[in-house]
Amino acid sequence: MILVTGGTGLVGSHLLYHLCLQNVAIRAIYRTKSSLENVKKVFRYYTENENLFSKIEWYQADITDVPKMIPAFSDVKQVYHCAAFISFNPKDYRKMRKVNIHGTAIIVNLCIAAKIEKLCFVSSIAAVGDSLKGKIVTEENEWNKELDNSGYSITKFGAEMEVWRASQEGVDVVVVNPGVILGSGFWNSGSGKLFSQVNNGFRFYTEGVTGFVSVQDVVKPMILLMNSPVKNERFILISENKSFKEIFFLIADTLGKSRPSIKIKPWQTNLFWRFAWCVSKIARKEPLLSKYSARSAHSVAEYSSEKIQKKINYQFEDLEKSVQRISKRYLK
Ligand SMILES: NC(=O)c1ccc[n+]([C@@H]2O[C@H](COP(=O)([O-])OP(=O)(O)OC[C@H]3O[C@@H](n4cnc5c(N)ncnc54)[C@H](OP(=O)(O)O)[C@@H]3O)[C@@H](O)[C@H]2O)c1
Repeated sequence: MILVTGGTGLVGSHLLYHLCLQNVAIRAIYRTKSSLENVKKVFRYYTENENLFSKIEWYQADITDVPKMIPAFSDVKQVYHCAAFISFNPKDYRKMRKVNIHGTAIIVNLCIAAKIEKLCFVSSIAAVGDSLKGKIVTEENEWNKELDNSGYSITKFGAEMEVWRASQEGVDVVVVNPGVILGSGFWNSGSGKLFSQVNNGFRFYTEGVTGFVSVQDVVKPMILLMNSPVKNERFILISENKSFKEIFFLIADTLGKSRPSIKIKPWQTNLFWRFAWCVSKIARKEPLLSKYSARSAHSVAEYSSEKIQKKINYQFEDLEKSVQRISKRYLK
């Protein structure tokens, strides 16, 4: 039996589809019935065969609820831990610690107790560390706790530490560190918003650079790593390093929309996140832009995925091709 956490999210739903193609029993954690519709929608992007979705045994639980989670581990041999709370709003820091660090500690403890064979954890490039002196970032980079890290980065790093503890206690683990994940199905959250914003005529761009990867190029290596002898290693997953300008232009071109035309400078975002923070306090709403999102829009960091390419001979899809496919699905 394979257990998947976060099965109703972007990574989890695409992972579930690819796992369903194999002849294995799958159990997936969900919290609300309505979120299962997202997974069905993702499955429909790939196939009209409804039988595939019905192969999943759904189990309702919050990963931070230990008594609820214990039965989920019955007969489980492999765990894919994709669940996380992603936010760049400082007000969500406590909740992120609870779900990302404490939740992962619970998953790790249950993996150890159930003597599972292998755990795959979805970390992030946010837990790898910044580029040092403009050098390309590899898996060997040291995450520096002295820096002004975002709450998301701190909690993904903390979660990874819990996963390395599992490896010390006899559970084989593989950790993947994806860049910004582009994929179909979640158009109003995370990177899915890039497609809906450009489609709605978003006019601004920045020139920060980071690693991007399609969701297929995240879930396929995860499955390959889990079915390989590789253990106790981490792998950066990015297909290309690109600027936000290049990505926005690519999305606009593939959607047949006008390219964003107004370049935003760092001082402008710096001013705007402060203004957005004040407005959010008065209006008691989420800020339109947080300090950390503003900073990442301009930071330049390039990542290397050479290790995974060499280790399991994995070839990433050309990012332009991935964006074309995602835009096509968006327009449908
Ligand atoms: N998206 C990216 O660009 C990106 C980049 C690098 C790394 N990652 C990592 O990839 C993983 C998956 O991200 P994603 O993009 O798929 O995120 P997502 O779409 O926001 O999905 C998050 C998933 O976690 C579940 N979840 C959150 N809190 C939970 C809790 N307390 N108990 C049980 N389930 C909970 C959500 O369930 P509900 O449906 O019930 O909310 C959902 O299934 C995360 O670990 C993230 O840090 C993402």
